[in-house]
Amino acid sequence: MGEVEPAFIQDPQQRPKLSIIQAEGIPIIDLSPITNHTLLNPSSVEGLVKEIGSACKEWGFFQVTNHGVPLSLRQRIEEASRLFFAQSLEEKRKYRRDEISPTGYYETEHTKNVRDWKEVFDFQAKDPTFIPLTSDEHDDRLTHWTNLSPQYPPHFSCCVQNDVNKSRDIIQEYIQEMEKLCFKLLELIALSLGLEAKRFEEFFMKDQTSFIRLNHYPPCPYPHLALGVGRHKDPGALTILAQDEVEGLEVKRKADQEWIRVKPTPHAYIINIGDIVQVWSNDAYESVEHRVVVNSEKERFSIPFFFFPAHDTEVRPVEELINEQNPSKFRPYKWGKFLVHRMNSNFKKQNEENIQIYDYKIA
Ligand code: OGA
Ligand code: NI
Repeated sequence: MGEVEPAFIQDPQQRPKLSIIQAEGIPIIDLSPITNHTLLNPSSVEGLVKEIGSACKEWGFFQVTNHGVPLSLRQRIEEASRLFFAQSLEEKRKYRRDEISPTGYYETEHTKNVRDWKEVFDFQAKDPTFIPLTSDEHDDRLTHWTNLSPQYPPHFSCCVQNDVNKSRDIIQEYIQEMEKLCFKLLELIALSLGLEAKRFEEFFMKDQTSFIRLNHYPPCPYPHLALGVGRHKDPGALTILAQDEVEGLEVKRKADQEWIRVKPTPHAYIINIGDIVQVWSNDAYESVEHRVVVNSEKERFSIPFFFFPAHDTEVRPVEELINEQNPSKFRPYKWGKFLVHRMNSNFKKQNEENIQIYDYKIA
């Protein structure tokens, strides 16, 4: 790829700076008070809730250690991801997503109308995942998305979902661990807002729309012009990200709006709150912008899990937090409609901006 391809070129003000600010500031939170049950004592959980609350308020991002996800499982999915992407384009395109079921392999995603320097493989947590057919709020028809299951690498994902004799494969096992961790984090976040621990659980119990994404960022000959993922906020409730040892993730620091590089911490997960938590908390916790910078020598892999509620969830500030002094800052919206609207615009370069939670802001 000698020639600079125009679709990848970021606007001058979006291009990465050559000087990097390393994040010492992103909090690292030790989850052992809740993962190590023999240690479960109320005062250590209380401390943890406080830490989570200030991380959400000050950064919108934090890392977790002692999170309970088995390291061997993480290594297995990372290896499977490398093997999958190492195949020929022709082979990978056999599992290419389409406009009907946007799961599987894809290499031409756009963020804010500029092409991302990456290839991805998406896999829904629930198969099938029920979703509105169109983003039109008067249209009640549903459709469903199903997964594509590559034959290679072996044990990566399993085509026969209900075969009791077959142990679940890597991706399903990993998704189950991600869900478990999300439910724990959601409890801590609810407690930190002064709500009941299980306040948000119902939205995910039936028909959640979560998915996992394998990201591969190949080396890029013009890292000063392109981005692996352009600046964006995650639209869901939470994101759990596994990044490898090659850095690249940058987070916009709330204090001064500078882009801060998140230094990889071995075996930790990076957590960020998404737009839904911002709306639930009525802006107490803001969903923070982030992006991925690529480099000319090293390829990078990452695996985000996007924790998304059921399509029929009505997203609105929780009523316990609303009163005369703190009136609701958002009009309610249907998650499924929002998601479908977003998917349609990510698919191809479009002239209009993506739908945002700010479209539901009460002025
Ligand atoms: C994303 C994202 C970060 C990364 O896919 O939404 O922010 O490091 N990814 O890959
Ligand atoms: Ni993101």
